[in-house]
Amino acid sequence: MCGIVGAIADRDVVPVLIEGLKRLEYRGYDSAGIAVINDRDVRRVRRTGRVSEMADAAAAEGFDASLGIGHTRWATHGGVTEANAHPHISHGVALVHNGIIENHEEQRERLRALGYVFESQTDTEVIAHLMHYHLKQGGDDLLAALQHVVKELTGAYALAVISRAEPERMVCARMGCPLLVGIGEGENFIASDVSAIVQATRKVIFLEEGDTAEVTRESVRVFGADDQPAQREVHVSDVSLASLELGPYRHFMQKEIHEQPRAIADTIEAAVENGFSPALFGDKAGSVFEDIEGVQILACGTSYYAGMTARYWIEAISGLPCNVEIASEYRYRAAYANPKHLVVTISQSGETLDTMEALKYAKLLGHAHTLSICNVPESAIPRASELVCYTRAGAEIGVASTKAFTTQLAALFQLAVVLGKIRGMVDAEEEATYLEALRHLPGSVQHALNLEPQIVAWAERFAPKQNALFLGRGVHYPIALEGALKLKEISYIHAEAYPAGELKHGPLALVDAAMPVVVIAPNDALLEKVKSNMQEVRARGGELFVFADQDSNFSESEGVHVIRTPRHTGVLSPIVHTIPVQMLAYHTALARGTDVDKPRNLAKSVTVE
Ligand code: AGP
Repeated sequence: MCGIVGAIADRDVVPVLIEGLKRLEYRGYDSAGIAVINDRDVRRVRRTGRVSEMADAAAAEGFDASLGIGHTRWATHGGVTEANAHPHISHGVALVHNGIIENHEEQRERLRALGYVFESQTDTEVIAHLMHYHLKQGGDDLLAALQHVVKELTGAYALAVISRAEPERMVCARMGCPLLVGIGEGENFIASDVSAIVQATRKVIFLEEGDTAEVTRESVRVFGADDQPAQREVHVSDVSLASLELGPYRHFMQKEIHEQPRAIADTIEAAVENGFSPALFGDKAGSVFEDIEGVQILACGTSYYAGMTARYWIEAISGLPCNVEIASEYRYRAAYANPKHLVVTISQSGETLDTMEALKYAKLLGHAHTLSICNVPESAIPRASELVCYTRAGAEIGVASTKAFTTQLAALFQLAVVLGKIRGMVDAEEEATYLEALRHLPGSVQHALNLEPQIVAWAERFAPKQNALFLGRGVHYPIALEGALKLKEISYIHAEAYPAGELKHGPLALVDAAMPVVVIAPNDALLEKVKSNMQEVRARGGELFVFADQDSNFSESEGVHVIRTPRHTGVLSPIVHTIPVQMLAYHTALARGTDVDKPRNLAKSVTVE
């Protein structure tokens, strides 16, 4: 969703701001803008649409400055208009904001009564006027004004502020939305996401909830929620420039699909080298895992499907009861809470608001132990969790999650085995078998990637369709759900997934010759059942597209198309079967000419409710 970048330097920072905003594009946005301080004046350019259009306008107007802030906006309060785009300015004070101010109506009324005139429908403009109001009251100190203003705000914010009266510093604040300060050589930065400034520096300070900070060329001063100076650790980010660039690929989604063997190998590296140890989940994990009697998984979207898959593994391998729930539902329900049930949140971004709020709610309900499976170091959800396991997928830029999902699955499988070992449900022989399966996983995933040419041919047939059904059974049902989500997300074809046995209880009514039915049919104990379900589809004229393991003895016939996935990989088969459904969605979207990496209406990090 929205993104922030700010810079102060001895050089022209406009290219830094533009490049930063371009690197934030992946989060999803519908307008962009920058404001700079030049000759004791604030200059601003904003545009709806792409950052490149705004950058052209800035170039045409000859923007050049050593202090500035920029923003990509994903509309919440107020439509997609230039007037609603950030930065917002009040009497020479310019600011950008991520998050939502809940008491904006009340503050707007108060400010109107004080004579302020509003030009936008946003909650953010309220903060700009409040900044000006407090500057007038409190002696023109930008930082002190910000510290006053944030105390009057209810809601979530990451803020970066500059003023024409103070061309030597920028100030910022964080509550409920990520914000970091980048440390350069004689220049410093502010960003909502390290990718925005990685071209300039990888040394960063992650601000904590309630922090404010003052950033000059030479110094960074951080203040805690009590406005007292606070020490914050300097981290060196491992996000690389290469991970943010397309390289030889046409889309980030394609790149990220193909990165999966490496991403999985990195995620399982420690387990492959040292075995299934609780330490994979943090130093305290051993004692926590010994104390638990069940697992409660909370997540959204693709991460929720990872949780659904994990449930099969956790219950079968560890014998612990496992419940999985969509975070946005859980947080509003009088849910049953057993303090001895480990709450596992799964989130690629680590900043999904629904998942974060569900985590807070679970703690409120009395859950004593929490584990975050996350791909973004130092993001909000792992920081709020007792235990953390970082997947090592690297930056995921495509809105449609791919490598994050399969690495989440790899991490969750490890969790199931570790819990099984602790509970005495996994003996040495079984552990060795699981380890062997894990070792072979990157190779099997690579093998599945090699099916791409056959999938391209299928995608041509899918491109003109309006609807599609995905079927799977058991642990492959969540993979059918993930396949349907990927297809609808990026190709805009309406797609649904069902456990194949459920077909005859309703969805079969949808099946006719126009309905492609994708079947995930691995060579497992449920294969014969799946075959019967396929007969039900064929008998109604439905066209079947079957992903079948090499050793499953399937043959093509009229209306039945078969792609052979690698030999059955046993317990990790759901991970291998994810690859072809991802590629099917990607190539179908390509054939339909949609914006694969930035599908309409969607954002990468969903930081609003
Ligand atoms: C996946 O393709 C989606 N874009 C979306 O469902 C995503 O998985 C969901 O918003 C959760 O995000 P998170 O993993 O960052 O929490």
